[in-house]
Amino acid sequence: MRTETRVGHLALWISPICVLLHTLCIFKEPAMGDQDLPGVLVSGLEGPHGICEDHIGDLQKHFTLITLQEFLENNTRFGPKVQAVYIWGGKPAVTQELLQSLPSLKIIASAGAGLDHLDLKLIASCGVKVANTPQAVSSPTADMGMALLLAAARRVVEGHRLAIAPDTENFSTNWMGQEVTGATLGIIGMGSIGYKIAQRARAFEMKILYHNRKRRKLEEEEAVGATYCESLDDLLQRSDFVLLAVSLTPQTQRLIGKRELNLMKPTAILVNIGRGLLVDQDALVQALQTGVIKGAALDVTHPEPLPRDHPLLKLENVTLTPHAGSATHQARRQMMENLVASILASLHGLPIPNEVRLNWDNSVA
Ligand SMILES: *[C@@H]1O[C@H](CO)[C@@H](O)[C@H](O)[C@H]1NC(C)=O
Ligand SMILES: *[C@@H]1O[C@H](CO)[C@@H](O)[C@H](O)[C@H]1NC(C)=O
Ligand SMILES: *[C@@H]1O[C@H](CO)[C@@H](O)[C@H](O)[C@H]1NC(C)=O
Repeated sequence: MRTETRVGHLALWISPICVLLHTLCIFKEPAMGDQDLPGVLVSGLEGPHGICEDHIGDLQKHFTLITLQEFLENNTRFGPKVQAVYIWGGKPAVTQELLQSLPSLKIIASAGAGLDHLDLKLIASCGVKVANTPQAVSSPTADMGMALLLAAARRVVEGHRLAIAPDTENFSTNWMGQEVTGATLGIIGMGSIGYKIAQRARAFEMKILYHNRKRRKLEEEEAVGATYCESLDDLLQRSDFVLLAVSLTPQTQRLIGKRELNLMKPTAILVNIGRGLLVDQDALVQALQTGVIKGAALDVTHPEPLPRDHPLLKLENVTLTPHAGSATHQARRQMMENLVASILASLHGLPIPNEVRLNWDNSVA
């Protein structure tokens, strides 16, 4: 800071505009590692469990980033400095022990829409706020849902392998997939992601059914041509594609098990862009192996990644992606910016954008 001020004085003699720009610059971009900046705990600055490397510079304009490792090495030194926890890819895990060693903690800012990795009741009992980034992830996750649906229906990954295989001499006329246009799509979970799926599916002339805790307004249904199925069983029986876009809660865990798979058409494809635990994976493997359903396309599994010898990895009619629903440069940047805004608001005592509020029964408001 001292050097910058001196440069500022020098610039005074050169050009007043320079000074103005420089002052603004100091105001907007405090020196990196400035001790006065609020401390924010992050999982790490590199590696698969670290935060996005492209975002580090931007975060350091506002915060002193404290890695979990630094914190664990000396929590008496770093604990009181941490005013926010920045959760990226579900990490760091917020345990009771962690909460107890962060006396200055105001907010937990968690990237993404899902909250299943957080004990919201426990966090609220410590007087700590929570914010997430639902808007930033809804379009890219809906895009991913359509990408998986199309890829599974038209066997894009299998087709790619066939097309590049060194022993391929001809393309069989008997190699076929399922038609998407005109098919029936059953969306389970009609939140913002489910709704965006419906908007996209409408352009593919699909018939759209949906199941949700709450029925959408008539205008909203009509805008995307979606029909409400109060009964999940009814949706499962009628759909050519079943797409899971529901959040994971104790009520939705293993929503799709053996019974539900047996209700689906033998030609049906299951697409999961929610959470792995929504599906009983053993039942799914069995259903795929025995032709109970045609195929599955999964952006999420349990655990992630699956053990390398897991049977789902060996099925031709399974398409897997590495939990990449929101993995676009644009969405990830938006997520980071939203988290910064929520943290700054909470530290300044302002209304917190995307604050997660709990109902009296501890469900998310
Ligand atoms: C932790 O930090 C405090 C204060 O900065 C220091 O006095 C102490 O020696 C540190 N302990 C370790 C284990 O590094
Ligand atoms: C097609 O390729 C297969 C091997 O992949 C070969 O056995 C077969 O003779 C080929 N058929 C024609 C018509 O070329
Ligand atoms: C799915 O693929 C497995 C082998 O990868 C196969 O045994 C099974 O018959 C396939 N199911 C259908 C419905 O095609």
